[in-house]
Amino acid sequence: MTGERLRVSVERVAHGGHCVARHDGRVIFVRHTLPGEVVDVVITGEGPRGSYLRADAVDVVEASPDRVEPRCPHAGPGRCGGCDWQHVTVTGQRELKAEVLREQLARLGGVTEIGGRPLVEAVSVEPVAGDVDGLSWRTRVAYAVDDDGVVGLRRHRSHEIEPVEHCPLVTDAVDGTAVTGRRWPGSERLEVVASSTGDRALVVHPRTPADVTAGLPEDVAVPGTRGRRWVRERAGGRDWRVDAAGFWQVHPGAANALVSAVHAALRPRTGEHLLDLYAGVGLFAGVLAADLGPEGSVDAVEASARACADARRNLHDVAGVRIHERAVASWLRHAAPDRADIVVLDPPRSGAGKEVMAAVLERRPRAVAYVACDPAALGRDVGLARAAGWRLASVRGLDLFPLTQHVEAVALLLPDHA
Ligand SMILES: C[S@@+](CC[C@H](N)C(=O)[O-])C[C@H]1O[C@@H](n2cnc3c(N)ncnc32)[C@H](O)[C@@H]1O
Repeated sequence: MTGERLRVSVERVAHGGHCVARHDGRVIFVRHTLPGEVVDVVITGEGPRGSYLRADAVDVVEASPDRVEPRCPHAGPGRCGGCDWQHVTVTGQRELKAEVLREQLARLGGVTEIGGRPLVEAVSVEPVAGDVDGLSWRTRVAYAVDDDGVVGLRRHRSHEIEPVEHCPLVTDAVDGTAVTGRRWPGSERLEVVASSTGDRALVVHPRTPADVTAGLPEDVAVPGTRGRRWVRERAGGRDWRVDAAGFWQVHPGAANALVSAVHAALRPRTGEHLLDLYAGVGLFAGVLAADLGPEGSVDAVEASARACADARRNLHDVAGVRIHERAVASWLRHAAPDRADIVVLDPPRSGAGKEVMAAVLERRPRAVAYVACDPAALGRDVGLARAAGWRLASVRGLDLFPLTQHVEAVALLLPDHA
């Protein structure tokens, strides 16, 4: 079947950046297309035991009104795997992301309405400040390097590398490192981390051969070889130190957008006790603590030692914040207080899961703000909360990853009686 060419009518968008079509009763997940299109596809693979097919649209027979010419020469079937939706208008992308959020909340979370409004009205995806038509937002990039030392980006579901000199998604600071302008023999991977503030960028190189800095501008640091190993970020009115290997949102407008969405959802009150779970370098703890006053307190929990070290530095002047370097589940099981007033849950892609959700909700907070980077994990965790007597009070989708299928969401969970 792989390599076969078929004509299909495309149905809805699905989680993962492709759309659903059918052939002889089998589902085909098609990339490079849009709902409502008729396209010719080439089959690229099969799911386990042939349960479904994967395909690329190679010719468009009937185009969607949301289709545009890709703005990157590396986009298209068999090419760079970084962008899923180069062929879609920016507003069309946001509608697709909203549709995925709604579908995952309904299917995995059992949600049919939010505050009496149908999901189609209650769930949308907003652009963030500083967005310029979806381009020039990537402050962190993991480049792949081929056997000849040429820098590029991985092709979709492949170990093959698409050589890329300029990716239109990266910021000027990333481009300014000039890493794509030279060869990196002996390397497999190269990360560039650039601050959103315009400060100097870092090139994180796993092997650091002797000539690692050759050809790089002098103000570009290479951790372990020259300069510092952290960047300064700014969000919520504060500066943040973030280690080269630490987590920080990639879009320059993301941290402020998330802080303000979480703040609006939780409305922290004086004297409250906040749990900031999966706290990173302390972003939510540091910003929300200002509203809790001298009687308030924060427990911030984060597993990475480097992130905790940065969080301690970042929050040294914020009273009432305790930073716990520990896995969230273990901290909740063994060390957490019995009660909390408000909770921020910002887990990795896999979501919080059964044990963490149960332990959080048992502490009977008045509100939980769930920050999700995977709509499926959000759907599952919302389903767990609903089964425990909670309701989904609001969801805001944020377009933190334009031109890709990824979407961030901030969901507010409230006890059912509130
Ligand atoms: C999505 S990031 C959020 C970071 C932070 N809230 C922010 O907005 O910058 C998730 C964080 O969870 C941490 N993490 C992952 N698994 C964890 C676990 N089981 N327990 C505690 N922290 C964990 C990661 O190191 C990462 O810093």
